[in-house]
Amino acid sequence: MRVLVIGSGGREHALCRSLKLDPQVSELHCAPGNPGIEQVATVHPVNPLDPGQVAELAARLRVDLVVIGPEAPLVAGVSDAVREAGFACFGPSSEAAMIEGSKAFAKEIMKAADVPTARSRTCVTEAEAAAALAEFGTPYVVKDDGLAAGKGVVVTEDVDEALAHALACERVVIEEFLDGPEVSLFALCDGSTAVPLQLAQDFKRAGDGDQGPNTGGMGAYTPLPWAPDGLTEQVMREVVHPTIGELARRGLPFQGVLYVGLALTSKGPKVIEFNARFGDPETQVILDRLETPLGGLLMACATGELGLDPVFKGGSAVTVVIASENYPAKPVNGDVITGLRETENAYVLHAGTKWRGEDVVSAGGRVLSVVGHGSDQESARQAAYDLVGRIEMRGSHHRTDIAR
Ligand code: AMP
Ligand code: GLY
Repeated sequence: MRVLVIGSGGREHALCRSLKLDPQVSELHCAPGNPGIEQVATVHPVNPLDPGQVAELAARLRVDLVVIGPEAPLVAGVSDAVREAGFACFGPSSEAAMIEGSKAFAKEIMKAADVPTARSRTCVTEAEAAAALAEFGTPYVVKDDGLAAGKGVVVTEDVDEALAHALACERVVIEEFLDGPEVSLFALCDGSTAVPLQLAQDFKRAGDGDQGPNTGGMGAYTPLPWAPDGLTEQVMREVVHPTIGELARRGLPFQGVLYVGLALTSKGPKVIEFNARFGDPETQVILDRLETPLGGLLMACATGELGLDPVFKGGSAVTVVIASENYPAKPVNGDVITGLRETENAYVLHAGTKWRGEDVVSAGGRVLSVVGHGSDQESARQAAYDLVGRIEMRGSHHRTDIAR
C-alpha cells in the first residue's frame, strides 16, 4: 500500500518510521516532512493546511491512504477534501475534529454521552466569567474555546489573572479543578468502533520537577507500571465508546485517533481534554512499543474495518525532547545540530529541523525527540539520556527527570 503522511514534526517522524517497518507499506510519502523524515519517506513541499494541495498530491501519487498528523489540517478541512477526492483517510472530518477544535463542543458531547469530566460553564461575557469563577473557586481553570497551540489554558490561584485570560478570549470554558496524576490514552477509531493503544504519560512543564511554563510536551514514557489495573478498559467503557457513539449519532463518525487526556482523581478518571490526533511526544514512545503493523491498523480505521486490539512489545520506551533556546517563550532558531546518530537502544526523531546547506539546523521550539527503549523503564531512560548526551546544539535545553 502507498501511504502519504501529512505533517512535519516528531510525531510524523515516528509515524513514518513505524509505517516504513510495515511490510504492507510499499511506498511512503510525507508532506512537508523534515530532514529526519527524508531518511524514511519521500518528502513533498506542499502546504499541509491547504486542502486542495493535499488532495492533489494524493491524486498525483495515487496513494491508498492519507494519514493526517497535526490538528490544524484537520480543522482546516484537509481530511474532508481528501475523502471527497476518493481517498481513504486516517483523521476525522473537520466537524468531528471540533472535539479538539472547540472545548465547548467537547463539553457538550461529554455531557450528552455522560462522560466523566470537570463540571464547567461556557462563558462569553465578563459577568458570565466572573460568576463561573466564583462558582468553581480556586484553583481557577480558564480555557480558550478554540485551538491555541498549547497556550489556551490558564490554571491560577489569582482571580484577576483568571478573569484577564477570560476577557482576552472570545469564548472560554471555565471549569472545576481536577486533582490527580495525568495520563494519556489514545484510541484508534473507525467511525463506529475503537481499540486502545498503550497508556502513556507526558511532561508538559519546561523544567525539571514540573517547574516553569507549559509546553507542548518535553518527554514521555510508556507503559505506566503504576497505573491502576483495568484503567484502559474503564476509560474505553466510560469515555471512548460513549464519545464516539455520540458523535456517530450526530452524523459525525470519528475515523482517526481520539486522544483522551485524563486526570486520575479520587473519584475516578475524568477527562481533562480531547484531541483529534496523536499526542506529541507520547506517540513517539507508543509506536516504539507497537508490534501490530501500523499501516494496516490506520487503513482499518479509514475503511471502517477495525478488528482486534493492537499488540504491544514488552519493555519500556522513554522519549526526551531537546528544545531550542528560549522555548517555549520565544524559540531561537538556526542553530547547527551535531551528533545525530543512533545507538543500539536509542534513536533520534526530528521535530523542528531543516537543512541549511549541508547542516541540519533547528527550526522550531521542540527540535528533536530522542527515544530510548529497554526491558524496563530505567534501562529505556538510560538509553535515551545516553544519546541525548551525545547531541550538541548551542543553547538547547531538555529535562533531566523524564520517567524518573
Ligand atoms: P489542555 O490544553 O486542555 O491540555 O490543558 C493543559 C493543561 O492544563 C493540562 O495538561 C492540565 O495540566 C491543566 N488542566 C486543564 N484542565 C484542568 C483541570 N480541569 N484541572 C486541573 N488541571 C487542568
Ligand atoms: N503531548 C500533548 C499533546 O500532544 O497535546
